[in-house]
Amino acid sequence: MKGTYDVLPERRAAWLRLRDATDRVLGRAGVREIVTPVFEHSEVFDKSVGESADLVVQKEMYRFEDRGGRSLTLRPEFTAGVLRAYVEHGMHTRPSPVKLWSLGPAFRAENVQRGRFRQFHQVNCEILGRPGPLVDAEAIALLHDLLAELGLSGLRVALGSVGDPEDRDAYNAYLRDALTPYENDLSETSRERLRLNPMRVLDSKDEGDQALLADLDKPLDRLGDAAREHLDGVARTLEAWGISFDLAPAIVRGLDYYRRTAFEIHAEGIGAQSALAGGGRYDGLVASLGGPPTPGIGWALGVERVLDAMEAAGTLPASEPGPDLFLVPMDERAIGEAAALARTLRSELHVEHAYVRRAPGKGLRDADRAGARWAALRGERERERGVWTLKHLARGEQLEVDEAALAAAVLED
Ligand code: HAM
Repeated sequence: MKGTYDVLPERRAAWLRLRDATDRVLGRAGVREIVTPVFEHSEVFDKSVGESADLVVQKEMYRFEDRGGRSLTLRPEFTAGVLRAYVEHGMHTRPSPVKLWSLGPAFRAENVQRGRFRQFHQVNCEILGRPGPLVDAEAIALLHDLLAELGLSGLRVALGSVGDPEDRDAYNAYLRDALTPYENDLSETSRERLRLNPMRVLDSKDEGDQALLADLDKPLDRLGDAAREHLDGVARTLEAWGISFDLAPAIVRGLDYYRRTAFEIHAEGIGAQSALAGGGRYDGLVASLGGPPTPGIGWALGVERVLDAMEAAGTLPASEPGPDLFLVPMDERAIGEAAALARTLRSELHVEHAYVRRAPGKGLRDADRAGARWAALRGERERERGVWTLKHLARGEQLEVDEAALAAAVLED
């Protein structure tokens, strides 16, 4: 279906690897998994991402009424729902920082293109309760280490800051003043952004827009002292930890809840939608969702994009191994015998079988196509002696084995 992504069985190994790496890398840093619903009351998003120009202007949220007439929204991202759960379960009373990760689908009614889906998946990570730059560096390092664990090296972090709220307001006012005289020369999206959130104009892909922006100050040029000091702290820590990054003077994120640190990780060779992951600090967001004032920082990576990047880098795991044993019935009676034996052996082994009578050659071909290690054949001759003819598919070696000894023979090799 347009804008969605089917995970076929062949891709399962790659998904498992990603989930497993997330659990291991983040788990070792004390980040624990939280599962929240795919929909929330619409207020949750209105109070968090609701202001965001992109989501509103482009009507990107899937919103509907349930049968009781309440407005619900499919999550366009995880942060709002995770923070709603943090507040609802009083998690601010736990030792801080509280570190939470999630993996699952998110929904945005976007214009579909390569790497941009309407239902996509994210690995999301939030660290709540600590305001200092060390936590920002930890969040970025965890993302970096996870991508490295998946075999993606040589990625550069783009690190910037959108400043404190007063810096943002001042910068937005500056940009509005500077661009309004040229409003008619801007692209349509940028004109909308100029009205709702001028900073977002910086993210325009339009060449004309970029020419107008070229000589203007960027957010990083106009940071207040506190935000500047914070950014320096993050940068110093990343340097000390050997994580390379580029300072990105004009980094602006599509969501508006960020304060101070904002970052993205891009990959080459996966097309225009090159952002693998992005995130930043969002002090103030927990409070706007009805919780106590709580600083926080987090990120999300796009699973489909990361898998694409792994494919480009040749680090996708091969598909999963086939059965240990494939049973080939050579006469009608053996079909039922194969099915019954498979059931028993499955307590120890991965066993598949043919569902129709097969001549030996065809049966072995079936076993080979299934990716089996061993095949066992049964016909009249084997039945009389209570055995199966066991054949190792790669080595060609063949032996007769008592039915009761089959599992042991396969397990041995
Ligand atoms: P985001 O930058 O909107 O941030 O999304 C993070 C990542 O999700 C993107 O870098 C991209 O890889 C992937 N992504 C986003 N939209 C799509 C799409 N339509 N199709 C495919 N992949 C997509 C957030 O969502 C923030 N909640 C991150 C965060 C967590 N900030 C703080 N905590």
